[in-house]
Amino acid sequence: MKIKTKKLVVANWKANPSSLKDAKRILSGIRKAATKATDVEVVVCPSILHLLDLKKTQGRSRVILGAQDMFTEEGGAFTGEVGYEALLEAKIKYVIVGHSEMRDRGETDEDISKKMDIILRNGLSPILCIGERSRDGAMEYLGFLKNQLVQAFKNVPKASVPKIVIAYEPIWAIGNSAKRSATPEEIKEVTIFIKRVIGDLYATKSIPPVRILYGGSVSAKDVAFMMSAGGIDGFLVGRASLDVKEFEAILNISNEKNTRSR
Ligand code: PGA
Repeated sequence: MKIKTKKLVVANWKANPSSLKDAKRILSGIRKAATKATDVEVVVCPSILHLLDLKKTQGRSRVILGAQDMFTEEGGAFTGEVGYEALLEAKIKYVIVGHSEMRDRGETDEDISKKMDIILRNGLSPILCIGERSRDGAMEYLGFLKNQLVQAFKNVPKASVPKIVIAYEPIWAIGNSAKRSATPEEIKEVTIFIKRVIGDLYATKSIPPVRILYGGSVSAKDVAFMMSAGGIDGFLVGRASLDVKEFEAILNISNEKNTRSR
């Protein structure tokens, strides 16, 4: 059955751009592009330092601002951290959790599970990143992904599952050192697997409607190809989200392909 779904495209700017002026320029271009891609929900996650200034320029734009991270505890004596209350006050909806670049710098499964809990209990939505470091013939990567999901969902009640977005980001496909992005078949296999794991976790055959994104070297030239096998609800975009023309093309293609088979 073909159903109409709204795609979700998330820009992860990481520590870029270095100036607020450039951040405003890129965001303004993305906001303009988003007015045409009406069947795409567009989220931009800038540097935390730029977030409030960018929020002030929101106007009537439908582009939503998100955060790249959040601390595991409520406010207090935690040097360098940003607590969830500050994000709530800034009316932030989405928070990226478990990005491989954060995991590499020490974010643990325990931290991720705590963040998921705080985010969901306070009306925010997590964009949970999972992804294997490398692929092996023996399919051990599926066990690895399953473990990441089981740990992250440890404290998640079934009723909160629809608020979660999962981004499948194979580490081997992310960033400048990536040799290639994942193929449509590889992406499809993992989306089916994710849904099965979540179904098993909640002992239900009717899979809770979690949205699944793909991330890792997403560029305009291959988003249509990536979506061709079905199964994904959108993209988490790093480098290409800093280039307005490129990101606009990603939005437009996602907008055209807003039906998918269930
Ligand atoms: P990339 O990054 O698109 O630059 O590969 C994606 C990500 O890390 O979220």
